[in-house]
Amino acid sequence: MFALFIPKLARALQPLSSARSFTLGVRHLVPKCPNCQRAIQMNRCYATISQSLKGTKSRHNAYMTSALLRGFQSLRQSTMRSGTAAAAAAENISVSAQKIVGRWLIGCSGMVFGAVILGGVTRLTESGLSMVDWRLLKDMKLPQSEAEWTAEFEKYKTFPEYKYQASQKEMTLSDFKFIYFMEWAHRMWGRATGIAFILPAVYFWRKGWISKAMKPRLIIYAALLGFQGFLGWYMVKSGLEEKPGPNDIPRVSQYRLAAHLGSALLLYTLFLWGGLSHLTTPQAMPNVKQMAKLRGLSHGLMTIIFLTALSGAFVAGLDAGLIYSSWPKMSDRWIPDDLIAFSPKWKNIFENSTTVQFNHRHLGESTVILIAAFWWMCRKIPLAPRARLAINCLLGMSILQATLGITTLLTYVPTSLAATHQSGSLVLLSIAVWFAHELRRLPK
Ligand code: HEM
Repeated sequence: MFALFIPKLARALQPLSSARSFTLGVRHLVPKCPNCQRAIQMNRCYATISQSLKGTKSRHNAYMTSALLRGFQSLRQSTMRSGTAAAAAAENISVSAQKIVGRWLIGCSGMVFGAVILGGVTRLTESGLSMVDWRLLKDMKLPQSEAEWTAEFEKYKTFPEYKYQASQKEMTLSDFKFIYFMEWAHRMWGRATGIAFILPAVYFWRKGWISKAMKPRLIIYAALLGFQGFLGWYMVKSGLEEKPGPNDIPRVSQYRLAAHLGSALLLYTLFLWGGLSHLTTPQAMPNVKQMAKLRGLSHGLMTIIFLTALSGAFVAGLDAGLIYSSWPKMSDRWIPDDLIAFSPKWKNIFENSTTVQFNHRHLGESTVILIAAFWWMCRKIPLAPRARLAINCLLGMSILQATLGITTLLTYVPTSLAATHQSGSLVLLSIAVWFAHELRRLPK
C-alpha cells in the first residue's frame, strides 16, 4: 500500500534550486506539484495544488500529498520571517531579544490607547481646561492642602470656562477637584507613556537589541511622542483664550483637537505595526494575482478609518453630535438646508456643525460599506487563517462601531456611549492594522 504513494512522495521531495528564501538547509525538501510537475515555490502553487488535488483519482494518494504539502507549508512558515525580524536576525539579534522589543512596542501602543480613552473621557466630562498652567515637573504633584486646592480653584475662576459653567450651574470646590483630577490623570498618563518608551528604548539600544532598520523609527516615535505633548498643551491653550461673545461656549479649537487625536492615532498605529513585526511569524499566503491589489486596499482601509476618526474629532470639537439627532435622515431631510451656510465654502467642512456631522456620518457609513465590499472580495481568495480571521473581525467591528455612533447620536451623546464609540474607533483601527500587517510583503 505504501508503494502507492512512494513515487509521489519521492517526486515531491526533489530539490528545487529557485527557492530563494528557503533557508536553514532544507532546500532539498521543496516539493514539486504532483500534477503539473512544476516546482512549488515560496507562496506559490498553494491554490493550484488544492484545485488539482480535487481531480486526483486515489483519495489516499490525494490525502498523502496534501499532508505532505501541509508539512511543507508549516516547515516553510517556521523559516519565514517578517522584514523586521529578518533584519534583526541578520544583525545577530537573538529571537528572545526581538520578542522583548516587540512586547515593549505593543505595551507602548497600549499606553497610547489608554491615553486616547482617558483624553476622550476628560473632554466629555468637561475637565480638560481645569489645569490652567503647563509645567512639566511641578504639575506632577496634586495640590496637597485645602489652601493649595483653593488657590488652584481661584486661578481657574479667572478663565472663560469657569465663567460659562458658573452661569449655567454653581461649581463647588469638590466639583473642581474632580475635573482637575481627570485632567491631571490624563497628563500623568502622557508622562508615563513617555517614560515607558524612552527608558527601555535607551536600554535596548545600548544592549544592541535594536536593528539598524528600527533605529530611525525609534527616533520618529520619540519625536512624535514629544510633539503629542506639545499639541496637547497647544490645544488646551486655545480653550483658555477669551471668546468674543458673552454667550460663546469656551471650548478648544476643533482643528487642534483633531491634530492631537490624529497624531495619537498615528503614533498608536506605528507602535502596533512595529510590535506586530517583531512578534508574529508570517503565515504563508497564496501568490494569487489579487495579492498586490489586496495589500494596497488594506492600506486604503486603514486610511479611511483614520480619516473617519479625524472627522469624528471635528464632531466632538464642535459638539456637533448634539444637533440633528436623527438617523438616517438629518431631521426630515437627506441634505440639510444649512449644509453650505458659511463663506468661503471650504470653511463649512471644518467649522459648520451641520456639515461636520453630515461628513462624519457619511464617512462612517461609507467605511462600513467599503469594508463589507472588501470582505466580499476576499471570500474566494485562499487567505491564510489569521488574515481571514482579521477580515472577519474587521467587518463585525465596523458594523458595531457604526451602530455605536448612531446610538450616540440618537441619545444626545451620553458620556459612556461617546467614550465607547471613541474606543471603538481605536479597536477598528487596530484590526485594520493587524489585517494589513498580515498581508504585508515579505522579504525575498
Ligand atoms: C467606522 C465608523 C466610525 C468611526 C471610526 C468613528 C469615529 C469617531 C471618533 C474617533 C470620534 C471622536 C470621539 C472623541 O474625540 O471623543 C467620533 C465622534 C462621533 N461620532 Fe463617530 N465614527 C464612526 C461612525 C459614526 C456614525 C455612523 C455616526 C452616526 C451616524 C457617528 C456619530 C458620532 C458622533 C455623534 C460623535 C460625537 C461624539 C462626541 O461628541 O464625543 N459616528 N466618531
